Amino acid sequence: MIIAIDGPSGAGKSTVAKAVAKKLDFSCLDTGAMYRAVAWQALSDGVALDDEEALGRIACEKNIEFGHADGDPVPKRVFIDGIEVTEAIRTAEIDKAVSPVSAAKPVREALVAQQQRIGRAGNYVVEGRDIGTVVFPEAEVKVFLTASDEERAHRRVRQNVDRGIGSIDYGEVLADLQRRDEHDSTRATSPLKPADDAVHIDSTGSYIEDVIERICEMARNKM
Ligand code: C5P
Repeated sequence: MIIAIDGPSGAGKSTVAKAVAKKLDFSCLDTGAMYRAVAWQALSDGVALDDEEALGRIACEKNIEFGHADGDPVPKRVFIDGIEVTEAIRTAEIDKAVSPVSAAKPVREALVAQQQRIGRAGNYVVEGRDIGTVVFPEAEVKVFLTASDEERAHRRVRQNVDRGIGSIDYGEVLADLQRRDEHDSTRATSPLKPADDAVHIDSTGSYIEDVIERICEMARNKM
């Protein structure tokens, strides 16, 4: 079974996807981390962010893997060609670089193929922007998760502090979220948009546990 969770940045997809996976004993795939890893590699290699062919080569040739922390069933560590980039892909620099990288068609083709291969190997909660529309249009459960811009920016600030990455400016985060949403929603290839059959959940002001339980219930009804 595939549970597809799409939505804009900071809507709570990661938290919800990991918790749903844990509760249902599913695996979990964070597709945004894959685009971020390619962006990290491009910056490290000095590849121009408008060089779609070179970006596509990175996505095809570099091995992106996920790892588990001790005793944690949900993978949270990210590696590209054996180098751990778990924290390095969460910086403001990567936040900026990832939109042009993810808009490159050769990058999307390579990563979508990898995501399909991974997801077809078992029961997965897959989170991203185009999971219900492009990667797994046949997913049994499709959720489009949103929250207000302000709530999403507050969450992102808190998340960075929790991850030990340090504090970031709320105004900058808000502006960056809005810029990224605009870019992700208007790009030609696989823009961020809900699948026709996705259930819309607005998590603004809701208890995240209620959102998690609602998605688990949707999945149980399909089992
Ligand atoms: O989810 P996260 O914020 O980590 O995603 C980072 C970026 O990766 C997004 O802003 C978007 O540009 C891109 N992305 C995508 N398709 C996905 C997942 C992420 O284009 N399925």
